[in-house]
Amino acid sequence: MTSLRADGLCKVFGTRPEEALRRSRAGDPAGAGATVAVLDVGFTVEPGETFVVMGLSGSGKSTLIRILNGLLTPTAGRVRADDRDVTALTGRELRGLRQRTMSMVFQHFALLPHRTVLDNAEYGPLVRGDPPARARERAVEALGMVGLTGWEDRFPAQLSGGMRQRVGLARALAAGTDVLLMDEAFSALDPLIKRDMQDQLVRLQGELGKTIVFITHDLNEAMRLGDRIAVMRAGRIVQVGTAAEILHRPADDYVARFVRDVDRSRVLTAGLVAEPAVHADRAGPLRRALELLREHDLDRLPITDRGRPVGLLERSAAELAPPDTALADLLHPGPEPVAADRTLDGFLGRVGTDTPVVDGTGRLVGLVRPVPLLRALGAGGQEDGDA
Ligand SMILES: Nc1ncnc2c1ncn2[C@@H]1O[C@H](COP(=O)(O)OP(=O)(O)OP(=O)(O)O)[C@@H](O)[C@H]1O
Ligand SMILES: [Mg+2]
Repeated sequence: MTSLRADGLCKVFGTRPEEALRRSRAGDPAGAGATVAVLDVGFTVEPGETFVVMGLSGSGKSTLIRILNGLLTPTAGRVRADDRDVTALTGRELRGLRQRTMSMVFQHFALLPHRTVLDNAEYGPLVRGDPPARARERAVEALGMVGLTGWEDRFPAQLSGGMRQRVGLARALAAGTDVLLMDEAFSALDPLIKRDMQDQLVRLQGELGKTIVFITHDLNEAMRLGDRIAVMRAGRIVQVGTAAEILHRPADDYVARFVRDVDRSRVLTAGLVAEPAVHADRAGPLRRALELLREHDLDRLPITDRGRPVGLLERSAAELAPPDTALADLLHPGPEPVAADRTLDGFLGRVGTDTPVVDGTGRLVGLVRPVPLLRALGAGGQEDGDA
């Protein structure tokens, strides 16, 4: 499986590129005759990751993706596919790269109109030099993956937009490349069909584990598909993170405006909103638990057993009990813990309580408290103090 890495990528269209870059970095207009489309962009896409690039029209997304597969030469910077320096390849080597390592899926499908669905799908493996029988086998298999079995002999004009894009996807899959580059691949589709294609891509990705760079200006699409999302603005990447990270801590106002209308409860997770909690071990003395309650001015204290939450100690009960009482005898169960990766929509019925959050091994990572929970679900997103 292939990783992709971009370092210091810049692309200037027009004249005097060095000067345009210098001016842009200083925050000035690039100057007449030059457009800075990509500016100082760096990121790594891990093997098997779906990396979404999102941004308004003109922010440089298409330019960036075309630099990744060598269709454009960057003004500065470097692209690596595993250990290969894509930016140093010759034209011939680049064609090889696009045939064997990276396939592109376009917004307007780019199918061969006078060829059948099957011909279109086997084009990639044929160009790459697969024997015809093998190319056909791969094409048939890829068409099956996208649900087009039985449509092999049709022509593109006989298909709906969604089906045409399935052919586009099948063509990329038949090529058998590790990397898929998808530039607004679903943007031209009707909303319902678009949703279908997204589901299908998620399903296929679960089986195939490709390294995908997916460009979109649709935030919901970005969140549905992306393991991580990079937000571009005027050629720069202004933030990279998971959907939840971006929602919870947008890097600036531009990003905050982008994510303003998202249903946060379905994206944010308990682990993100949980705050560290003082707690005491069940085997410890009551005296120590009481100290913690007083020191931190708490009404109740989570009690753990080897890190796992087992209940709550009420301060009133702790104050009244004889000093040699075992903690275990004073516990009451408290709210059921939730997993750190649970989204907040599962919480809405328990807003009034402190909910313990546990990691994959059942250990307490913190508490989701009512005020931070409500703040996280509110439209602002930005933390009060630390943003
Ligand atoms: N071949 C070119 N020559 C000159 N300028 C270009 C060229 N290609 C792109 N640009 C400019 O570079 C900037 C970034 O364009 P790009 O197409 O990468 O943006 P985008 O984010 O893909 O936009 P969209 O969402 O509209 O597809 C824009 O200002 C665009 O006009
Ligand atoms: Mg574009």
